[in-house]
Amino acid sequence: MNASDADRDALAAARALVADAARIVVFTGAGVSAESGIPTFRDALTGLWARFQPERLATEEGFVADPPLVWRWYASRREAVRSCQPNAAHDAITRLQRRIATTVVTQNVDGLHRRAGTVDPIELHGNIARAKCLAGCGWTGDASALEAADTRIPPHCPVCGAFARPDVVWFGEMLPPDPWACAEAACRAADLCVVVGTSGLVHPAAGLPSIARAAGAAVVIVGPEDSAIDDLADVVVRGRAGDVMPPMID
Ligand code: OAD
Repeated sequence: MNASDADRDALAAARALVADAARIVVFTGAGVSAESGIPTFRDALTGLWARFQPERLATEEGFVADPPLVWRWYASRREAVRSCQPNAAHDAITRLQRRIATTVVTQNVDGLHRRAGTVDPIELHGNIARAKCLAGCGWTGDASALEAADTRIPPHCPVCGAFARPDVVWFGEMLPPDPWACAEAACRAADLCVVVGTSGLVHPAAGLPSIARAAGAAVVIVGPEDSAIDDLADVVVRGRAGDVMPPMID
């Protein structure tokens, strides 16, 4: 069997699992947005963490050491995301949700699932369009609106006056508890978990497919390269999300 026969067989097996499923969790990572022009984190050369230092840009210590640098980096990513559009994979996932009970759980902060029309995507790592209070007073709001109202860099929390920070989860931080609880519950209730475009390296998020599997779900993994969780999968479909998801779902 050559590679393309194996790819065709894997796609057919994944299609059959989708056709048989009554409750699906779609778990996505940066790869689902790659074809929208948003860089992933760990791809060699193009990944953000190949070009930037996560300890300076994605930790609270890094923010405290240089708040303007970190605010500006997220502001430029926020602007870049705004000019990108959902791709064929986001659209296919939306169509799947309209047909079958589907919960979309994403590690992405780009908001593209929602912009593609997916209802109530669970955002485990926050959303780059939002800001929150660094001091934890509880304020969250739209980051661009805050910048328009307060031109300091970074702007300050409108409630308590501490610095505002991006409303994303940084290394060493807990995931927001409600989204995590909803994601876990959806995985336990699913009969199929479709994993798209993640390296499977960042926990606890990367543990969700194994929670689904332990509760009896089949697992399909979609991506162009090996991931750290491929051994969980009943079917691995090699390819780009935008090429694989439409024929797998429609
Ligand atoms: P990674 O950059 O770690 O992994 C991206 C995955 O997408 C890799 O397995 C790629 O092979 C795959 N990929 C690339 N292009 C693709 C395409 N066109 N179609 C499908 N897959 C493709 O990104 P994540 O796994 O999402 O954390 O990273 C997890 C977390 O680490 C992120 O949420 C982020 C980061 O630090 C936070 O922002 C908190």
